[in-house]
Amino acid sequence: MILRPAVEADLEALSIVHRRAFTPGWSADEIADLASGPGAFGLIVEAEGPVGMILCRALAGEAEVLTLAVDPDARRQGVARALVVAAAAAAKAAGADAMFLEVAVDNDPALALYDVQGFVRAGRRPSYYDRGGGIYVDAVVMRLDLGGAAL
Ligand SMILES: CC(C)(COP(=O)(O)OP(=O)(O)OC[C@H]1O[C@@H](n2cnc3c(N)ncnc32)[C@H](O)[C@@H]1OP(=O)(O)O)[C@@H](O)C(=O)NCCC(=O)NCCS
Repeated sequence: MILRPAVEADLEALSIVHRRAFTPGWSADEIADLASGPGAFGLIVEAEGPVGMILCRALAGEAEVLTLAVDPDARRQGVARALVVAAAAAAKAAGADAMFLEVAVDNDPALALYDVQGFVRAGRRPSYYDRGGGIYVDAVVMRLDLGGAAL
């Protein structure tokens, strides 16, 4: 597997991975919008094809994970772990002291991943995710200290 910075030519591949991991996932245009914002950067993991992606923003000393997705057929092989480690290193190199993200309270795989990567719970956003049908789910805000992070 290869992990590398994502470039404009990867937009469709990033979208393919995102749509494999989320319903509904993001289109290439939606990803392009986010990726063109200040401080944004993306990383992609490829095997036979694209299997993992992360999109982040590092700005004014803080970084944020905008999205993280791994193809269901490539899970539990360390793809997300590698993406988070590389993104944290890139954010630190860009001058960020901390990395934040939001994750649904019922997303056990992601919570387990972030726990094991050293993120700590920093807050909660009530009814942050709209699951449709009048169902809303809270988000946990998590924070990784990039100064002391065991990357
Ligand atoms: C969450 C997600 C990114 C994890 O990707 P992954 O490549 O399978 O994760 P990794 O293989 O790198 O896992 C690293 C560690 O995280 C934890 N972990 C990951 N998935 C887990 C699961 N399903 N159950 C329990 N622990 C899990 C484990 O500690 C794992 O280490 P181990 O396999 O040695 O036990 C993936 O399940 C996914 O794309 N989910 C849908 C999209 C999503 O929820 N994104 C995050 C939104 S905030």
